[in-house]
Amino acid sequence: MDYKVKDLKLADKGANLLRWAEDHMSVLMSIRKRFAKERPLKGVQIVACLHVTKETGVLVRTLLAGGAKVALTASNPLSTQDEVAATLVKEGANVFAWKGQTKEEYYGCIQRALSFKPAITMDDGADVVTELHSGRGDISRVIGGTEETTTGVVRLTAMAEKGVLKYPIIAVNNAETKWDFDNVYGTGQSTIDGILRATNVLLAGKRFVIAGYGHCGRGLANRARGMGAHVIITEVDPMKALKAVMDGFEVMPMEEAAEAGDIFVTASGNKNVIRGEHYKRMKSGAVLANTGHFNVEIDIKELEGMAKSRLKIRDFVDEYTLRDGRKIYLLADGRLVNLAAAEGHPSEVMDMSFANQALAAEYILKNSKRLKAKVYDVPKEIDSAIAKLKLDVMGIKVDSMTKEQERYVKGWAEGTE
Ligand SMILES: NC(=O)c1ccc[n+]([C@@H]2O[C@H](COP(=O)([O-])OP(=O)(O)OC[C@H]3O[C@@H](n4cnc5c(N)ncnc54)[C@H](O)[C@@H]3O)[C@@H](O)[C@H]2O)c1
Repeated sequence: MDYKVKDLKLADKGANLLRWAEDHMSVLMSIRKRFAKERPLKGVQIVACLHVTKETGVLVRTLLAGGAKVALTASNPLSTQDEVAATLVKEGANVFAWKGQTKEEYYGCIQRALSFKPAITMDDGADVVTELHSGRGDISRVIGGTEETTTGVVRLTAMAEKGVLKYPIIAVNNAETKWDFDNVYGTGQSTIDGILRATNVLLAGKRFVIAGYGHCGRGLANRARGMGAHVIITEVDPMKALKAVMDGFEVMPMEEAAEAGDIFVTASGNKNVIRGEHYKRMKSGAVLANTGHFNVEIDIKELEGMAKSRLKIRDFVDEYTLRDGRKIYLLADGRLVNLAAAEGHPSEVMDMSFANQALAAEYILKNSKRLKAKVYDVPKEIDSAIAKLKLDVMGIKVDSMTKEQERYVKGWAEGTE
């Protein structure tokens, strides 16, 4: 047993948080019940680098119930819920995570988790895979891994295309029950939650600029509109831009949006999307936040270079005063605002994401002999089974096709009558 968390005395508080999350994660709980009986992960060492939230706690308990040994490290220096980290240590997980890590501590914790020599890795952003593929950690026992987020899948796909990926990865992010729910509704709601907890600004009537109209951007745009904000989208993909226009949002380049906006949120998975040329045009009082995976979407170095002073106004709000006197506010150091300033996604939506994680781990074990060093989608049967289970626990029934309809949708002979 090895661990490093903020304070083990927080464990009781964490247990209550986990209890709340479990009551809202029925799909994962039903998987836990089966795992406890069948023990499909017996003796398997998992090294997970995930946001250490109460929902991740429910996943870790599920993996432990399935017989796995778990070493857990945070996938962001600011996203750990210290109470949950303490509880998980008490329950037998080797946790290396606390809120407010330096970059060195962050990577140091991944290294300590990797000393447990994983058979399966679970990543949110591909940092564990990157460490292992850079020779920092024992890769020899790894049979496969899972990836939780878009940015991680992008990195891993690039590795596979370049022929450097050494073991199979299941792209949990790309499951329909993950990407179309967690990223859309989860990020949509929790990003607003983070901005409000940090600032308590009124959204109604504000010009709310979102960089990127992908899954996260679309979810956020709809939630911001629902709060009465006037939403402006910036995009680089004409198709996504067109969708945003037809969904009723204003679309313009960041250069123009910079002048118009009151609140800016990056959700692109790209770097330096908001930078010096944009700060020059912004109104005094502009609020900047990021909800993309890495803290590179807002060019903070350039903001620091243009500022004559910086003042911490309150937790997660830094005021940068530019040389001409304008003030720009940066939330959560440009890190994931929903996890740093709030609690991340609601349990109900993480229920599906983490059901995918648990079942993907089981799938890797069952199929390790035939899986190649590629990025795989979550098998359709698993994805559909999770959707069905979620509807069941929500008490929602759906129709099924008649035999005649099944024949009709598969046939070609019948047309207009
Ligand atoms: N905050 C969270 O909890 C959370 C949850 C899920 C995903 N993420 C992260 O959010 C990011 C976006 O994920 P997604 O699933 O929406 O990805 P996505 O691929 O569906 O969407 C990204 C969009 O950004 C656009 N884009 C790229 N560069 C741009 C630029 N310079 N300016 C404007 N738009 C640009 C792309 O064209 C695309 O439409 C990723 O980094 C992902 O890992 C965060």
